[in-house]
Formats: sequence, structure tokens, C-alpha cells
Amino acid sequence: MSDALSKRIEASLEESLSCAVGLGSPPTLREALHHAVFPAGGRIRPRLCLEVARACGAPSSPLAEGAATAIELVHCASLVHDDLPCFDDAPTRRGQPSVHAAYGEATAVLAGDALLVLAFETLARRGEHAPGQVVALVRTLARYVGGAHGIIAGQAWEVESSVPLAAYHRAKTASLFEAAVVSGAVAAGHDGAAWRALGDRLGMAYQVADDLADAVGLASDLGKPVGRDGELGRPSAARELGVEGASRRLYRLLDDARDAVPPCAGRAEILAWLRKTLDALLVSRGVDSVRRSAVA
Ligand code: IPE
Ligand code: IPE
Ligand code: MG
Ligand code: MG
Repeated sequence: MSDALSKRIEASLEESLSCAVGLGSPPTLREALHHAVFPAGGRIRPRLCLEVARACGAPSSPLAEGAATAIELVHCASLVHDDLPCFDDAPTRRGQPSVHAAYGEATAVLAGDALLVLAFETLARRGEHAPGQVVALVRTLARYVGGAHGIIAGQAWEVESSVPLAAYHRAKTASLFEAAVVSGAVAAGHDGAAWRALGDRLGMAYQVADDLADAVGLASDLGKPVGRDGELGRPSAARELGVEGASRRLYRLLDDARDAVPPCAGRAEILAWLRKTLDALLVSRGVDSVRRSAVA
């Protein structure tokens, strides 16, 4: 993660955070916000957003950078809230104590809230020169975060007695991947709808890989607890389909994702980036060996 795009993402997140908390703001919240965003996780969503903008011919759009930053801030907020005792009660995240473990539950609730607000503020601030596109980006982000189909709906499915696995995965994870690709295209002046299928298939695959990692991975490799889906009775691809069935679904979704990349100037480049990134993801999740046994 040391290339130019990654440096842009880290610098942009730093800039956004510095606007959120200045001199005189509550110091514990300030520290908790930093802890929630740094050190970096995979940063796959902001990267995806910028790769799509690049594929659409806008390699250095400030608006795409604002959208990518907003999406990662929302993602960090979702991790802070997801780890809370009332959800997954996870003591670690990204190899360090989760925000509530480090700063207490009240601060963690507020840190998640503040990151959500900061995401929308970032979009508004970075797009002052392009109000029409900002309106489209705000609406896009709100849709994929909200309680109808977005990540909030994803967490809300967990209080229902019966949860359709695909709807759960689509809301809790695929929605932000869809937000990333649609926003990258919109920021580049392209039709966001043409990119939706890529975001959906990629996000669905990502959550199946995470379910498999929860079932067969190691906490020390992942930087977060494993075995939680079973303990908490969460719907999971590994639990519903078995490790081999989930692995087959994962690889089918990844093929579908590659097929869903729409015609664009940088199609070959984004396909190459996807191949490299997904191979690395499967290794880091410990599921590449699962595939070898599942398809053998
Ligand atoms: C974790 O997302 C939550 C899921 C949707 C599986 P990531 O695996 O992208 O988390 P970070 O950002 O790399 O820590
Ligand atoms: C993934 O939820 C989506 C989020 C909103 C975090 P999980 O509970 O499956 O993700 P991890 O395994 O804690 O990262
Ligand atoms: Mg969860
Ligand atoms: Mg969790």
C-alpha cells in the first residue's frame, strides 16, 4: 500500500479528520476518531472508487477523491459500531483494540456518529465547485448507507428472526462497494448505473470471503476475532452452504464481477487491478487454499 493512489487516500483521510476535530474539541473523541481511521485496513472501497474514476478517464479528480474519502469514513464508522457490545462485541479490529475497547462505549457510539457526519461534510466541502455532481454523490451515499437498503439496514437485519442471506450480505457489505463504483463514475461525469453490477458482485464476493475467513481463518492473520458468526448465530455463507459451497459461490461471484466491468477507456487497466487485488485478498483471508480443495 505504498503507491501514489494509496498515499492520496491516506493524505485525504488525514485532511478530512483534521477538519473534524480542531483545537478545543473533546480530546477523547479526537483520539478515538484517529484510532478508528488509522492505521489503514485494506482501503479497498476508496481505492475501487478512484480506480473506477480513472477507468472513466478522470485519474486525478478532486471530486472522486472526496467521494473515496467519504466512503472510507462511512466504512470506518460501520466498523466502530459493528464492534460495539450491542452488535458483535469484538475486542480487536485491524490488529489493535476496537474503539470501544480503547475508549469506552459512549465514545465509540459518538465516534461512529461523527465519522458518518464527517463523510457527508467531506463530500460537500470537496465538491463546492461542482454542486450538481455533489447532489448526485450525496444521494448515492445516503442510499447505500441508509436504513432501507444500506449498511444500516444490514445491521438492522440482525435483530430480525429470519434473515435472507443475500439481502443481508447485499445491505451490510455490497452496498458500500456499489456506492464506491457508482460514485467513482459519477465524479468522472459518467453514468453510475452502468457500474452498479460490478459493485454488487464484488461486495457480495467480499462478504462471502469474510464469512469463510471467519470460519477457517486465523485471528492473528485477520487482526479481528474469528468464529464470531457461529457464536452469535449470524447468517453466514460458510454456515449455510458449507466451506466448499461458499467457496464455489465466491469464485462464481468473482467471475461475475469481472464480466460486469462496463465498456470504458480504462477497461483493461481496471481488470488488471481487480485481478491483482482479488488474488491478494484471497491470500490474506486464507481462502485461496480453500478454493484449491473445493475445485480439485
Ligand atoms: C470488514 O471490511 C467488514 C466487511 C465487510 C467484511 P474490510 O475487510 O474491508 O476491513 P478493513 O477496512 O480492511 O479493515
Ligand atoms: C460486515 O460485518 C459489515 C460491517 C458493517 C462491518 P461483519 O460483522 O461480518 O464484519 P467483521 O467480520 O466484523 O469485519
Ligand atoms: Mg457484524
Ligand atoms: Mg463484526
